[in-house]
Amino acid sequence: MRLLCTQAMNKGNAKANILIVDDESSVRGIISRKLIQEGYYCDEASDGDIALKKVSDRDFDLVLLDISMPLKSGTEVLQEVASRYPDIAVIMVTAISNVETAIQSMKLGAYDYIIKPIDLNMLRLSVNRALEKRRLVLENKDYQLHLEKKVQEQTEKIRESFFNSIMSLAIALEAKDEYTRGHSERVTSSAVVVARELGLSDEMIEKIRLASLVHDIGKIGVEESILRKPGKLTEDEYRHVMAHCEIGERILHPIVDDEEILEMVRHHHERYDGTGYPDGLAAADPNADGMPPSEPASSPVMKRFSLGARLLAVIDAYDAMTSNRPYRKALDIETARSELEKGKGQQFDPKIVEVFLRVSNEALASPGKQSHASKGA
Ligand SMILES: [Fe+2]
Repeated sequence: MRLLCTQAMNKGNAKANILIVDDESSVRGIISRKLIQEGYYCDEASDGDIALKKVSDRDFDLVLLDISMPLKSGTEVLQEVASRYPDIAVIMVTAISNVETAIQSMKLGAYDYIIKPIDLNMLRLSVNRALEKRRLVLENKDYQLHLEKKVQEQTEKIRESFFNSIMSLAIALEAKDEYTRGHSERVTSSAVVVARELGLSDEMIEKIRLASLVHDIGKIGVEESILRKPGKLTEDEYRHVMAHCEIGERILHPIVDDEEILEMVRHHHERYDGTGYPDGLAAADPNADGMPPSEPASSPVMKRFSLGARLLAVIDAYDAMTSNRPYRKALDIETARSELEKGKGQQFDPKIVEVFLRVSNEALASPGKQSHASKGA
């Protein structure tokens, strides 16, 4: 008793905290004395319930556990400790020299199985090894935790720098072409509203947002004289402008590690009936569920363009129609809306047109909720 009181005062300096669970006080005493001599803090419990209470009240590193005890067996206590306190190492110390019981204990998570009468040196070695293993496991857990946090931080930084690059490109384009000033932002804002309305996932909405911001970035590679030409474009000039989809994809490829965003940029001028550019992909979707086809657009089997690109095509066209261009004045909203209606199923995905027109109509009806979907109002 005097020994326990003395070592309790030194608990903070102990090598580890050990709980000895045995219904025989003489066994607890022998083990305690040996381990205290070795520099451990020891506490004792005479049955399983007391043991579990002590484990829940204090920090123990290791539990030495008898199996045959009144009330709760050591095996039951082991199960509870292993599930509720997996960081505590457990060594079974028992008179049951039965292989099945030993195997069962190890399967339940015991580190070792020592048979009575106890060889105290063996016990000491087993305790040292169990605690060393526990230390390594905890260190590893800690490392994993920090690693995950580090990876998360890095991912966030990469995302931020990626977003900044995209924004710089969008700004660079608008500085070059005054007629597209505000276009990317308006398209982005409407695209996000329509994507939400279509019930797309947050991840897909974010991709649509980024793709919308930079969908016309390829115009950086189009000659300014052509972009600003007030009259009708020649065939060659028109081909040059059309190339902005592919140029955009090429510009973004080194910084955008996402095939779906690149696909939207490349295909935002495709037409629903397959007569658009640059690849003339059709968008006929037999599922007609409004979701993107599972196959990538590059699939040789299914040459289609994605829902994201179809969505961009509608909103991009609407914003272009309602904006002043070097070669024509902006159309009024009603004319632009009826153009979208007319193009349903030919140039445009009918479902997206319906959603876009409904959303922009609602925005017009409630100016408080007005979005870019109602631009021009
Ligand atoms: Fe475009």
